[in-house]
Amino acid sequence: MSAYKGIIETYRQYLPVSDKTPLISLQEGNTPLLPAPYLSGLLGAGFEVYLKYEGLNPTCSFKDRGMTMAVSKAKEESSKVIICASTGNTSASAAAYAAKAGLKCIVLIPAGAIAMGKLSQALIYGAKVLAIKGNFDDALDLVKEISAKHPITLVNSLNPYRIEGQKTGAFEICDTLEAAPDYQCMPVGNAGNITAYWKGYKEYKKNGKINSLPKMLGFQAAGSAPIVKGRPIKEPKTIATAIKIGNPASWKQAEAARDESGGLINAVTDTEILSAYKILASKEGVFVEPASAASVAGLLKLAKAGYFNKLTTNDQRLTTKIVCILTGHGLKDPDRALKTIKPPKTIKADLKTVLKEIGY
Ligand code: F0G
Repeated sequence: MSAYKGIIETYRQYLPVSDKTPLISLQEGNTPLLPAPYLSGLLGAGFEVYLKYEGLNPTCSFKDRGMTMAVSKAKEESSKVIICASTGNTSASAAAYAAKAGLKCIVLIPAGAIAMGKLSQALIYGAKVLAIKGNFDDALDLVKEISAKHPITLVNSLNPYRIEGQKTGAFEICDTLEAAPDYQCMPVGNAGNITAYWKGYKEYKKNGKINSLPKMLGFQAAGSAPIVKGRPIKEPKTIATAIKIGNPASWKQAEAARDESGGLINAVTDTEILSAYKILASKEGVFVEPASAASVAGLLKLAKAGYFNKLTTNDQRLTTKIVCILTGHGLKDPDRALKTIKPPKTIKADLKTVLKEIGY
């Protein structure tokens, strides 16, 4: 039997693991790279858009790629407790992998500011969840201090094993396309994931698996765009709660990914995010959480501004391939869907009324 065993087994040669590393896996990774015909059509001839649907990981976000590594290494190092700050997804993932590993998990979340699906996950997986009267950045400062002073492993993306695991997203994209894409669009919050993807692409190129590197295009929410503005944002605001972050931990690395790749980090408004959120669901059949839609909001914003046309006029190849990373599942934040679309009409339970409503 050669059943899929998760990202560590699949990409072992690229990861800092040994025979002594216990494998704590929920068979994360191996997510679909969906062709997106509607979005490709919006960009026009010569463009192929793909969606890397990371919402189909075991806890429904990309964090599982990093968490299988961070928790396996914590277990190898005989740690008994892990801790993280989170806008929701990291806490859900940490809690699940801690449960599997038999470790204690502590999570600090900004009170009232994480989506319901994520909170319910962290709780049911058995984490000790503390809602602080502060934002994500305050929570991160606290867990950094706690893990520095106590025998507790930090599993935010400051933990280098998180980045190692998450870089496998880039490997999968290249394995599927049999080349690197020309551009990659992704949301940027604490900036670990853009750091991880860029590392992955560079390693694959160094190992001769790909010949070129993509331009990295990162998108922050306009009300939470410290990298775009060039200064920390004290009170970040956005409906995309996952990326409501004012002082990203991997700020410098995100700038390096942007600059080394010749890409950019731009801002998208909540209106643009919600528009992309609806397009993804209603035209591509892919339900994501709002933060994930920032990838596609950014893609559409740049396309409208003529960004892609300008950069590809001298390109001899027939198609320009653009991958959008869809970081989390739509069911993480069902409230947002219900707030965005009109609720169903309640009608009488008789045939005539139903037929009339549906136009027959
Ligand atoms: N998309 C989703 C759905 C996220 O949950 C996050 C981050 C990001 C994008 C941004 O990734 O931080 O690596 O730049 N969520 C973290 C959390 C902060 O606590 O769940 P990043």
